[in-house]
Amino acid sequence: MSAHGSARALTIGELAAKKDAGEPIVMVTAYDHPSAQIADEAGVDLVLVGDSAAMTVLGYDSTVPVTVDEMLMLTRAVRRGLSRPLLVGDLPFGSYEASDSLAVQTAQRFVKEAGCDLVKVERGGSTVDRVRAIVAAGIPVVGHVGLTPQSVTALGGYRAQGRTAEAAKTVIDDALALQEAGCSLIVVEAVPSQVTSLLVERLRIPVIGIGAGADADGQVLVWHDLLGIYDGPAAKFVKRYADVRSVSVAGVRAYADEVRSGAYPAAEHGYGMPADEVAKLRELLAGE
Ligand code: KIV
Repeated sequence: MSAHGSARALTIGELAAKKDAGEPIVMVTAYDHPSAQIADEAGVDLVLVGDSAAMTVLGYDSTVPVTVDEMLMLTRAVRRGLSRPLLVGDLPFGSYEASDSLAVQTAQRFVKEAGCDLVKVERGGSTVDRVRAIVAAGIPVVGHVGLTPQSVTALGGYRAQGRTAEAAKTVIDDALALQEAGCSLIVVEAVPSQVTSLLVERLRIPVIGIGAGADADGQVLVWHDLLGIYDGPAAKFVKRYADVRSVSVAGVRAYADEVRSGAYPAAEHGYGMPADEVAKLRELLAGE
């Protein structure tokens, strides 16, 4: 038995061993209990309750407004659905940057109140000190470099990063600094595959890519992207493995049609009552 269910939970050491063995690591985001159960059953290694939840499930137009309490509610629901994969909680914008003590307090909430195995933070720079503090408090950390959506305004929009030698060196230097500060994993988002390849060679910890080419030690995709849950354009790196939105619209439309036509509910969808009880009820009502 693992701490969280019937299947044995993976360990961070096993992820590192996968990098050493050249075995790709699979990570997805999830934001609710049934999705967590599906991810677990599908055999992924890591589940990230990303602050992308702000857009995918809460309807905000960026990751910036989502609060710690909103993230904790979603993360707890995912925790209850997982047995084997490691659970990563995403510290939202404004919940860790200002000081080491704020970072440690927020990370502790994700571990204590939502059962996270690791927490994720974005950027290099001052985040490196925050990572050192969280790791010193005994909490494993995932760093996130390249396109870091919490600083999308400063980065000039949702666009690929590290496309010049100097910009790429900054991405690599940030990742190295995060590793030295104690990160267990690095997520690298939207950088050229050549940069990922140089990064993977230089880091001893696993590098999980999103829009970062095939050379990363693993891949992560956003749940709603990979399952096609929303309409409209997706980032260049997204591959849709299902069309859940169309299937869902068709299902709800069929239900609406049947309610309107009277086809639903049919007799088999209801509960019966013996005829003598119905007769008795009529008498009771008539006597009132
Ligand atoms: O919030 C998120 O979903 C993420 C992934 C894109 C890595 O940070």
